[in-house]
This record gives sequence, C-alpha cells and structure tokens, in this order.
Amino acid sequence: MDGGAVGVVVASNAEGFAAGDHVLHFAGWREYASVPARYATKVDPEAAPLSAYLGVLGMTGLTAYAGLLEVASFKEGDSVFVSGAAGAVGSQVGQIARLKGASRVIGSAGSDEKVKLLVEEYGFDAAFNYKDEKPVVEQLKEAAPEGVDVYFDNVGGEHLEAAISRMNVHGRATICGMIAGYNDTEPTPGPRNLAMVIGKRLRLQGMLVQDHNALQPQFVREVGAWVRSGELKYRETVVEGVENGVEAFLGMLRGENTGKMIVSLA
Ligand SMILES: NC(=O)c1ccc[n+]([C@@H]2O[C@H](COP(=O)([O-])OP(=O)(O)OC[C@H]3O[C@@H](n4cnc5c(N)ncnc54)[C@H](OP(=O)(O)O)[C@@H]3O)[C@@H](O)[C@H]2O)c1
Repeated sequence: MDGGAVGVVVASNAEGFAAGDHVLHFAGWREYASVPARYATKVDPEAAPLSAYLGVLGMTGLTAYAGLLEVASFKEGDSVFVSGAAGAVGSQVGQIARLKGASRVIGSAGSDEKVKLLVEEYGFDAAFNYKDEKPVVEQLKEAAPEGVDVYFDNVGGEHLEAAISRMNVHGRATICGMIAGYNDTEPTPGPRNLAMVIGKRLRLQGMLVQDHNALQPQFVREVGAWVRSGELKYRETVVEGVENGVEAFLGMLRGENTGKMIVSLA
C-alpha cells in the first residue's frame, strides 16, 4: 500500500544522508524501507513535529494550498465552499481561504462535533452536517445565501451537484477527490445539473498534487508561518502500530478521523 511516511535513517551510503537523519518517502506502509536517495526528502524534527510533514506541511497541505490558490484561482473576496471540511485537506482549504481574505467560508462535514470544530476552532463562517435529513443543496443555500465563487470538492456525488446549483457565474471548482464514490461498485452517476455549467460559465478542474511541486517552498514558508503563529490550526487522528494500518485506513473512509489520519510506529 503506497503512501507517505516519515522515519529515521538506519543506514545510508548516499551522499547527504546519514544514520539518524529524518526523511520523508513515499514507499508506503512498512516499518523499514530501502529508498533511493532521490526519493527521500530530509525533514527537520526541530522545526515541526514529524507528523506535520505528512499533513499540514506535507502532501495534504500542499494539495489544499495549490488546489485553492492555483487550480481554483482563488482571489480575495471570493466566497468558498469546501466539502470534507474537517479532514486533512478540507480543514486547511477553509483556513487558507479565510487567511487570504475570502468573503465567506462554508464547510460541510459528517458530524455535529466536526461542524462545531469548523466554526469555533477553524474560523469558518458557516458549516453544516451533510448527514442531516435536509438535502445538501438546501443546507448550502442557507449557509451561502450569496452563492459560492469557489467550490473545493473532496467528495463528489450529492455535494458536487449541490455546489453546481449554488455556484455564481464564472465560479471555479477544484475537483480534488470524490470520496463519496470510492467504494461504489457501479459507475457513479454524474451530476444531474451539469448543464448549468454552460449558463453560469463555470470551470470545473481536476487536480493532482504532484503537478504543483514548484509551489512547495512558497507553501512551506507561508503555511509554516501561520502554523507557528497559531493562525492556522490542525488536528490529527493517531492510530498506534503498523498492524492497525488497515483499520485506520478504513476508519478514514468512514469519517473516524478529524484532520490527517496518522499511523504511528513509535
Ligand atoms: N487530487 C489530489 O492530488 C489529492 C491529494 C490528496 C487527497 N485527495 C483527495 O482529497 C480528499 C480528502 O483527502 P484527505 O486525505 O484530506 O482525507 P480526509 O478528508 O482527512 O478523510 C476523509 C474524510 O472523508 C469524509 N467522507 C467519507 N465518506 C464520505 C461521503 N460519502 N460523503 C462525504 N464525506 C465523506 C469523512 O469525513 P466526514 O466525517 O465529514 O464524513 C472522512 O474523514 C479525498 O477525496 C482524497 O482522495 C486528492
């Protein structure tokens, strides 16, 4: 199973890497990895907790930063809606939008506790529980009476359809993930209102984080400063032991995590 991991170098014959160094690699779920030096990135355990290099200052953080600023062409004054908003990517999208001058930030999540966290800790202007009886489109209409300029999609399905309905003319959507459909055994039906894209001149753009590596230094500088100053907050859900990795992954799909799901081997 691939995925990002941070660990300590046990032995190295590569220039620039010595035993005891801390590195990030993407060789996946394992206790030991043999990694060519070009696939390892040194990280500084003094500058941030090691787990931050997987989440808030790592791949999911860069996904949020690049997906909002580069892919959705976010600009000051935009109203922003993000689904999966209490997760690793979503919680950062909402906070970056707030810090960059969004006129309104709205999030959706799957429990009342997460909704409370979005408003009270992350500073979202409004949030709703998509598992409530009321359809997503109606909850979004109440939360964003002036409509939505930018939609950051982590979920797909009903959320995407609702966002298309509530997006303003020339709105932009970053299609980052479609977790609502990852376990579907049949192809997921498309949004039934896709034709609205024409009249509203919407832009729906898919993204892959690895296309945005050039933003990495700027991302670490800017988000690192917000984390240090406390302006950007993050949570992690930590599960102990590689033997619990599968359960942690399935738990993440069920929404048992708040922020980045981490499996700790320590
Ligand atoms: N394109 C890229 O390059 C890229 C990179 C990284 C991640 N992603 C994607 O971005 C999304 C977020 O990733 P992440 O790592 O930050 O995960 P995450 O949001 O930390 O965890 C996944 C969350 O999805 C929510 N969820 C599960 N089933 C759902 C459903 N049917 N409807 C609505 N929400 C549901 C759960 O929260 P609730 O309790 O709120 O339901 C769960 O906590 C994922 O779709 C992922 O695949 C894309």
